[in-house]
Amino acid sequence: MNERPTAAAHRVVKEAVRAGDLVVDATAGNGHDTLFLAELVGKSGRVLAFDVQQAAIRATRERLEAAGAESWVDLYEESHGMLLERAGRGAVAAVMFNLGYLPGGDHEVITEVGESCKAVVQGLFALKPGGVMTIVCYTGHPGGEEEAGAVVMGLEEIRDVGTVEFDLEVGEPAKEKAPFLVVVRKG
Ligand SMILES: C[S@@+](CC[C@H](N)C(=O)[O-])C[C@H]1O[C@@H](n2cnc3c(N)ncnc32)[C@H](O)[C@@H]1O
Repeated sequence: MNERPTAAAHRVVKEAVRAGDLVVDATAGNGHDTLFLAELVGKSGRVLAFDVQQAAIRATRERLEAAGAESWVDLYEESHGMLLERAGRGAVAAVMFNLGYLPGGDHEVITEVGESCKAVVQGLFALKPGGVMTIVCYTGHPGGEEEAGAVVMGLEEIRDVGTVEFDLEVGEPAKEKAPFLVVVRKG
């Protein structure tokens, strides 16, 4: 059976992250990935989590509090376009993106192609050598296919220019319109 992209993202991140690391959840949503990251880095680490929706930040805070993991997570109710300014260059062990809309939330609030591309490039610069970035892309909603294509093409162009060294792995969707995972591993 095919591994789900979200599960594959967790597996990839788990291999790269150690206790005490600085990590980023670029799309906090309901907080599943934020809590996963918080548990991986532990009290000695730091998680920066972004979402533009107040409901998402609230849900993420509640999830962290229920797990007693809120004190080493900084929640930002702002765009992941602030990622590099908040995290700095070359210091981050993992960046996770889960594009699209908040399940159970406002389906009108979706990640947007321009902002996603900008933030993914920022994520690339924020990563330290050996760091990983995972991007779960969805193509089943309006604009999703365009966004996923632009994110992948943008990364391919930067890789081919060669100013930043990284490996790029683009997963195959299990079927038409199924989500897929993009993994960046910084050299
Ligand atoms: C698929 S959901 C994320 C699910 C989340 N990773 C989880 O574990 O529950 C995508 C999220 O991206 C958020 N979003 C949309 N545009 C954003 C932006 N510019 N910056 C940060 N988050 C954004 C949406 O509000 C939504 O909550």
